[in-house]
Amino acid sequence: MNAILTRIAAIYKDSFQSNPRYYFSPGRINLIGEHIDYNDGFVLPAAIDKGIYYAVGRNETKEIHFCAADQNEWYSVAIPAIQKMNGWKNYVLSVVQEFVLLKINIGGLDCVFGGDIPSGSGMSSSAAVEGGLAYAINDLFQCGLSPKEMALLCQRAEHHFPNVKCGIMDQYANMLGKKNQVILLDCKNITHEYFPLQLGDYSIVMINSKVHHLLASGEYNVRRQQCEEGLAIIKNELNLHSFRDISSMDILESCKHLMSTLVFNRCQFVVEEIARTKKAAALLQNNELNGLGALLYQSHEGLSHLYEVSCPELDYLVSLAQVQPAVLGARMMGGGFGGCTINIVKTAAANSFIESITTAYQNKFNIVAEAYIVTPGDGTKRVE
Ligand code: GLA
Repeated sequence: MNAILTRIAAIYKDSFQSNPRYYFSPGRINLIGEHIDYNDGFVLPAAIDKGIYYAVGRNETKEIHFCAADQNEWYSVAIPAIQKMNGWKNYVLSVVQEFVLLKINIGGLDCVFGGDIPSGSGMSSSAAVEGGLAYAINDLFQCGLSPKEMALLCQRAEHHFPNVKCGIMDQYANMLGKKNQVILLDCKNITHEYFPLQLGDYSIVMINSKVHHLLASGEYNVRRQQCEEGLAIIKNELNLHSFRDISSMDILESCKHLMSTLVFNRCQFVVEEIARTKKAAALLQNNELNGLGALLYQSHEGLSHLYEVSCPELDYLVSLAQVQPAVLGARMMGGGFGGCTINIVKTAAANSFIESITTAYQNKFNIVAEAYIVTPGDGTKRVE
């Protein structure tokens, strides 16, 4: 048993009489396709081997007892009394509430969870918390939801109590991830295909800036609104109903005079990022890694200057990567305003890359960055 699971199992045993089942619910990376899952785009995520472990058992009451092991916090509530709270409680309670809203008859639970995804790292610890609990409830009460239905349930859960109007990428990768595969997810039709992540001599290295600027979730919803505002103008003017239908920047330019510069910049990023992601999927399938790397840098430029979801720390980490010959491409990853950069780095040079980038970063910001080498793993599953 791994160390986290052992710790969680011990807390469970000390606290509850019921018999638990164990689950692993992963975080995710995203190669490219940022902030376009809620804009009808394609994204290229994968589940990873970092995540949240759950021990969950039925207690045959109407009460749910939660222990967030990493925070050493406890919370109990009767299912009919569930309401919006704060912090981690919102994520788990909102998931339970979604089962209630579906009129699925679930009973009480004892539940301990904890993991190794640094919160605020942009690797979606929130989707991992949601997905693990949804999967456990579905399993323990035999609700019969498919992985896709559970992903959608978790997305709705994140919209409700936590009030983050996220797209579907994180919850989908969390549920449907597959070892050694990336997911090409079509966020308009909510369909996907897998293909192997074959990076040859290269590895994916995450550099965690260890900053998480507070505006993150508020600004996220603002970006979403700005895109909706732009799309409404495009619909009105051109009768195009999705960012996906804008096949060139010339088409978007024809609406420029009707939009504020800010809204135009957001739309430009979205149109370009959708095109980049389609291109990236083709390059990856043909093993054209240099081209893929260049797209990552372009994506970062757009995220930083047009979409404005980066921050000085992330920009600096990407600029450090850019001058290293062993790096093919790098960009900020996830919602932004902190968290990780994703870097495609020659495996043989990964350690020296990590050493030099973390030293330079510490010299500038006085923060000790963390680094992780990640590979695609399975989606949420029961473990023994
Ligand atoms: C967060 C959201 C996702 C996605 C990313 C940005 O992780 O949960 O839906 O929008 O930001 O790509």
